[in-house]
Amino acid sequence: MADSLLKRYTYDVMANDFMAAGKSSSAIKSNLKSLGIDSDILRRIAIISYEAELNIVIHSFGGKLHCDIYENKIVIISEDAGPGIEDVDLAMKEGYSTASDSVRELGFGAGMGLPNIKKYSDHLEINSSSTGTKIVATINL
Ligand SMILES: Nc1ncnc2c1ncn2[C@@H]1O[C@H](COP(=O)(O)OP(=O)(O)O)[C@@H](O)[C@H]1O
Ligand SMILES: [Mg+2]
Repeated sequence: MADSLLKRYTYDVMANDFMAAGKSSSAIKSNLKSLGIDSDILRRIAIISYEAELNIVIHSFGGKLHCDIYENKIVIISEDAGPGIEDVDLAMKEGYSTASDSVRELGFGAGMGLPNIKKYSDHLEINSSSTGTKIVATINL
């Protein structure tokens, strides 16, 4: 059935852990690669999951990244424990970032993460409040 979940990969993502940052999205990429997912789809999912992971590391108190595989789609879900995105419309704008100077010195904070997640998804939902942010990005197969 097209609508039933075939497989879920889940990763814990720690806030401020720049040593581990990128590992969950890399693992998602290699898992999907071994399943034989098309390289163009793989590239889009790698960008979406990396940006979502880095946003948990940089902007949240920590959370989880899931990769859900269905017959006809792959869904990347990021959920974290807050503090939430104050203004989602503003956060979606290219170049908008609240990253600190120390995070920018590490090379992050270009403000292109959410715009690129949107660009490479077929469907995107963002729900955010002070208790957390949930992003659901769907890529059709
Ligand atoms: N998970 C999150 N929790 C809280 N705020 C977030 C989260 N993800 C994004 N944001 C907010 O949205 C802004 C834009 O995100 P993004 O486009 O990825 O740019 P960047 O990460 O480079 O700042 C961030 O600067 C931050 O203010
Ligand atoms: Mg970002």
